Amino acid sequence: MKFNIITIFPEIFDSYFNESIIKRAQDKKKIKINIHNLRDYTKDKHRSVDDKPYGGGPGMVMMVEPIYKAIKKIKKGKAKVILFSPKGKTFDQKMANRYSKLDNLIMVCGRYEGVDERVKKFVDEEVSIGDYVLTGGEIPAMIVVDAVTRLIPGVIAIESLKEESFSLEKELKHAKYEYPQYTRPENFNNLKVPKVLLSGNHKKIKQWRLDKRI
Ligand SMILES: C[S@@+](CC[C@H](N)C(=O)[O-])C[C@H]1O[C@@H](n2cnc3c(N)ncnc32)[C@H](O)[C@@H]1O
Repeated sequence: MKFNIITIFPEIFDSYFNESIIKRAQDKKKIKINIHNLRDYTKDKHRSVDDKPYGGGPGMVMMVEPIYKAIKKIKKGKAKVILFSPKGKTFDQKMANRYSKLDNLIMVCGRYEGVDERVKKFVDEEVSIGDYVLTGGEIPAMIVVDAVTRLIPGVIAIESLKEESFSLEKELKHAKYEYPQYTRPENFNNLKVPKVLLSGNHKKIKQWRLDKRI
């Protein structure tokens, strides 16, 4: 699967995408992440991507033309284009699952006061990552890449995914979150690991975990 990210801060992604599961997924060619500098799609010598809002008001608004040009250049064949915005549909595990089946996801990261409203004509979906305002769409893009990559076959062991919070397994419909986990030591400052987990009785452990989930 390809992730194409349109941003004015391409370096922001370097460290996160070069560690851990996301790095391994790229090394294994399960995903490809392309970062596009929006300023490469400008036409003036200052490489401007923003301007003052019509009607007045504070801050700057990202112009439609560079974003349109970037999408047009990057969108080859079947691709889904999303725009990050606090007004969008809230990203959740179901959306992550849906996106994980795509070949190409193009993400537009806004900055400043947001983007010219006409950008919406060139995207398929507006996506929010929660009801709060961030400085830009780059953190939302990292979140989407991360949550989606975990669901791509071969990135994470299928057993881990099955039991994770928000698992889409039908029998766990009423058990939204994963069961509690413990590791060594057995006793930390008199905080003890539940006995059942030390029992070696797999049937009982399975039942305890299911009860805890519910
Ligand atoms: C400072 S915000 C603009 C907020 C806008 N003026 C408003 O009040 O809705 C700049 C950019 O950050 C991104 N952004 C901020 N909060 C977000 C959120 N909760 N979900 C997704 N993107 C967000 C969007 O791309 C947005 O265009």
